[in-house]
Amino acid sequence: MQYGFGKLILFGEHFVVYGLPGIASAIDLYTRARIFPAERGIEATDALVGRHIIFGEKKGDLLDRALGIILGETGLKEKNFRLEIDGNIPTFGGLGSSACLVVAITRELNEYFSLGLNDERINEIAFKTEHVFHATPSGIDNTVSTFRGLVWFEKNMQGGKNTVELLKAKKPLLVVIGNTKISRDTGTVVKEVRGRKEKEPKKFEKIFAEAKELAFEARKALVDGNDEKVGELANKNHKLLQQIGVSSKELDQLCEIALQNGALGAKLTGAGKGGCMFAICRDKKQQEKIKHEFEKQDFEGYITKVGV
Ligand code: PMV
Repeated sequence: MQYGFGKLILFGEHFVVYGLPGIASAIDLYTRARIFPAERGIEATDALVGRHIIFGEKKGDLLDRALGIILGETGLKEKNFRLEIDGNIPTFGGLGSSACLVVAITRELNEYFSLGLNDERINEIAFKTEHVFHATPSGIDNTVSTFRGLVWFEKNMQGGKNTVELLKAKKPLLVVIGNTKISRDTGTVVKEVRGRKEKEPKKFEKIFAEAKELAFEARKALVDGNDEKVGELANKNHKLLQQIGVSSKELDQLCEIALQNGALGAKLTGAGKGGCMFAICRDKKQQEKIKHEFEKQDFEGYITKVGV
């Protein structure tokens, strides 16, 4: 039994696609993969999305395509087994559920068939497979899902090795994740941003410069354990994401609820246009309160901590 962990992009989503820095942290929401012996062929059931496939029979199915890449990379296409997937991560929520899925499957295959893959290789396979779910993944999701911890990430735009640094936060940051329960497709949102950027290059140039500076400030604030500053920067980052058109009425509403209840800062996380946001809290009591306020408005709330 192996796990892939979810992530929160704390700073820099969308900007990372263009080589700017991003900061993400693993969280304790996960996908779990288990392999059982089977007489013939490969079957997979994903309880998180209610999907069952017989490998190779449903061309175009996302799970089938993802498995095809992982099995191709690991040379296991001819094996017989049954794969069961479950977990507690909301899917299509901006918490990196697709990366969790591919990391969990690859890790489980690695263990079950004693492949001896190291984390570098698991991350590489996960990145290749992420292309099934979104066309131009930056690589940040699979990196955090594989290595966990707090990660500074810069995509290498020349196709070389990405910059991945494990950061050490002074203390964990208490957060509440708010889920709009509105599903969206990361690839589509990324494409829409590209379209806007091409139409308004000057505006985007300015926003990108601010996003870059903000990421460096946020890195320092996280490492120093300056929660107030992290909160302030999260609010600023949310504004930049609004400017590139990826927030939504519901995401803004969740941020507003959190701030009205004393959160240090709040921003959307992941692709936006639905999915999730997070709020930075002073203490456990405030986490509970904000979660409760989210639920009162029919959203979902998850209490977690990041940076550990
Ligand atoms: O929606 P998620 O959690 O898969 O996050 C996507 C993050 C983006 O920066 C929007 C895209 C990417 O590939 O980095």
